[in-house]
Amino acid sequence: MRIEGGRVAAVGPYRELRRAHQGGEDALVEEVEGVLLPGFIDCHTHAVFGMPRLDDHQRRALGEDYQAIAAAGGGILQSVRDTRGRSEAELRELTRDRLLALRAHGSTTIEVKSGYGLDLDTERKQLRVVRALAAEERLSLVPTFLGAHEVPPEHRSRRAEYVRLLREEILPAIAREGLARCCDVFCEPGVFTVAESREILLAARRHGMALKLHADELEEAGGAELAAELGALSADHLAAVSERGIRALATSDTVAVLLPATMLFLGKTRQAPARRLIEAGAAVALATDFNPGTSPTVSLPFVMALGVCQLGLRHAEAVTAVTVNAAAALGLAADRGQIAPGFAADLVACNVAEWREIAYWVGTSLVTAVWTGGLACPHPPAPVSLSLHVQTRKAQGQSQSPGGEGPQGGDRGLA
Ligand code: NIG
Ligand code: FE
Repeated sequence: MRIEGGRVAAVGPYRELRRAHQGGEDALVEEVEGVLLPGFIDCHTHAVFGMPRLDDHQRRALGEDYQAIAAAGGGILQSVRDTRGRSEAELRELTRDRLLALRAHGSTTIEVKSGYGLDLDTERKQLRVVRALAAEERLSLVPTFLGAHEVPPEHRSRRAEYVRLLREEILPAIAREGLARCCDVFCEPGVFTVAESREILLAARRHGMALKLHADELEEAGGAELAAELGALSADHLAAVSERGIRALATSDTVAVLLPATMLFLGKTRQAPARRLIEAGAAVALATDFNPGTSPTVSLPFVMALGVCQLGLRHAEAVTAVTVNAAAALGLAADRGQIAPGFAADLVACNVAEWREIAYWVGTSLVTAVWTGGLACPHPPAPVSLSLHVQTRKAQGQSQSPGGEGPQGGDRGLA
C-alpha cells in the first residue's frame, strides 16, 4: 500500500507500487506481519462517564432486570448523578484512558454520545470532553447529542416540558456551539415514545444534525420504522425489531447497528435478528455500545466474535460490520472503512495467520499495531485504567485530603 497525505494512494504488489512511484526512494517503508485491515469503526459508544455501575451488575446477577434496577435508583440516572458531579477535567482524563483502550483494540474512529447529563451544562460538558480529546489524541471522534437518553429526575412529573426544553433550548445551544454531529434518542416504552422521538429528531434535523436512534432494544415499539422514515443514519440495538421494522430498514439507507455485547452483559438470551435483517437486504454494522451500565467492553474484535457465534454472521460480514457498514452508520462511508485509494489511511494489524481468527480468539487482543492518517500510534499502548483513577497516597496528599470531597469518596482509595 502506498500512503500519501494521510490517505491510501495505491494498493497492490510491492514491486508494482515501487515501479509506479519512481522518485519515491526516500519514502518510509514499513513491513507488517499478519493481517492488515481498515481501522475499526466503533459507531455506538457512551464513553464519557465516571464510575462503573457495579451494583447494577450485582443486582442483575440476583435476578433483577434492567428496568427494575433503573426504577430502584440504578441505571442511567445513577450515571447522570455521577457525571453531573464530576469536573470536566476529571471526565476528560477518564475518557482519554477509555478511548485509548478502545484504540488499543483496533478502533480508530469512535462515535461518542452524551446522555449522562440531561441538562444543558452537563451535556455540554460531556461533548466538550469529546471535542478536547479529538484535538489531543490520534483518533477520529464523532460526537452525538443524546439529551433524550432518559427523562431527568427534575422533570419526572413534567416530561412534556423536558421534550420542549430539549427541542427549544438545549438542542439549539448544542448546535450553536457545533458540539455534536449527530442526535440520538432512546426510543423505548417507558423512556421516549415514537411521537416524542420524532419531535426531537425533527428539531435536530432542522439544526443540521444527522440522526440516529436507539430502537426496539427491549420491546418492539416502531423505532426501526421511525428511523427509516426520517432517513436516520442508523437504528441501533433492534433485539426486538418487528417484521415491519426489518422491511423498513431493508428498503432504506438506514444502517442496522447491532450490539450483541449488550444483550450478553444484560444476561438476555435474545439477540437481534441479524440474519433476517441481512437476508431482507439491510446493511448490518456492529458496535461495542461501550457504557458503564450495559456493555463495559472496549473490544470490537470481541463484539465481532459475538457477531459470529450469537448473531450468525459470517466472518466476512463481521468484518464489513465494523468497517464499511460502521462507516455508513456515521455518514463516513466515502471517507474511511476501506483499504482503497482515496480512503483515510487508518489501519489495524493483527498477528494472525488467517483473517477469520480476528473474530475467533475471544477475550484476548490480537492487535499489534494501529495507524491513523498513515502514522503509527503508540503500540503497545501505555497502560491505562478503565476504572476510576486510583490516587496514590503522595498524589492525594498534594491535591486533596484523604477521603476528600470527590463525588464518591470511597472510590478514591489509597493505593
Ligand atoms: O445503549 N439503551 C440505552 N442506553 C445504553 C445504556 C446506557 C446505560 O445503561 O447507562 C445502551 O445500552
Ligand atoms: Fe447505547
